[in-house]
Amino acid sequence: MLEASSPAKAILFGEHAVVYGKPAIALALDLRMSITAKEGLKTRVDGGNLRMRRHRYVKWAVENLWSGGPISFRTNSKIPRASGLGSSSALSSSVVAILQKMKGSWNEKANALESFEVEYNVQGGASPTDTSCSTHGSGILVSFEEMDHHLWTISKGDRTWYVHHIEPPEMRMVVGFTKRPSITHIQVNKVRDFYQRSGFARETIDEIGDLVREGLKAIRSKDMVKLGSLMDQNHSLLSILGVSSKELDKLRDSVEACSYGAKLTGAGGGGSIIALTDEPERCARCIERRGGVPYIVKNTRVGTQVKVIDG
Ligand code: PMV
Repeated sequence: MLEASSPAKAILFGEHAVVYGKPAIALALDLRMSITAKEGLKTRVDGGNLRMRRHRYVKWAVENLWSGGPISFRTNSKIPRASGLGSSSALSSSVVAILQKMKGSWNEKANALESFEVEYNVQGGASPTDTSCSTHGSGILVSFEEMDHHLWTISKGDRTWYVHHIEPPEMRMVVGFTKRPSITHIQVNKVRDFYQRSGFARETIDEIGDLVREGLKAIRSKDMVKLGSLMDQNHSLLSILGVSSKELDKLRDSVEACSYGAKLTGAGGGGSIIALTDEPERCARCIERRGGVPYIVKNTRVGTQVKVIDG
């Protein structure tokens, strides 16, 4: 029997702007999704047949990346779904790791490339930010030019993304989930409309790009105060783009007194905020009081892992 597990991710800076050629930074979080697999009589997930809606990621991966016999999968996830924390990319990275290990050909780069294919095809479009972060762990910078600490390059259509390793300091954070789903393509389309008709939107995207570069420096110098202030600024710029919401703003405001800074993370509209703090319990209480679901997290170095276990 094999077991693979992959971490959640949070976009720290640059969501949406990354769609327009700006860099983005994502961190792996210590919430994990794991999956076990063994040969079976029929391919099943959690005891059920591969149904399209619930098991789209596993189904696509098995149908397109596997030519062996049936596999019985069991999943176990601590990552809340539709929260902007990358539960689907952690699932994609883990399933790919299992299939590659079964074929005797697992390696991190191949894992990142194939899990991107899974997400891209199931979602009908995606950037490799989430799947690369989940596979690699630690932190990543996605940009449109090759820089120091380059890990791999991923191309799709006329797009090429360069993925780089980042070494963040240990950061204590609290995620506040609004309980409303974040639906990526709706928010991406909304920003696209604004971008096409407004010079102001284009300037806002440029400002986010500058802020990501500042964020990279603040990570390297381990400057939490600066990082928090950049997170606040990034949130304001995302609000201008129209992807915040009443609930996200409420949760963000609730942690103002107990965090270095906080912002929505991921596509927005719903989903979660992330706050950088050295008072996680206090932040968690504030989030709960304002109707959110808190998750106290740290960043993690550990990306996708796959190993043989007793079954
Ligand atoms: O909601 P998430 O975590 O899938 O993040 C979406 C990030 C966007 O920049 C809005 C879209 C993308 O593909 O990069």
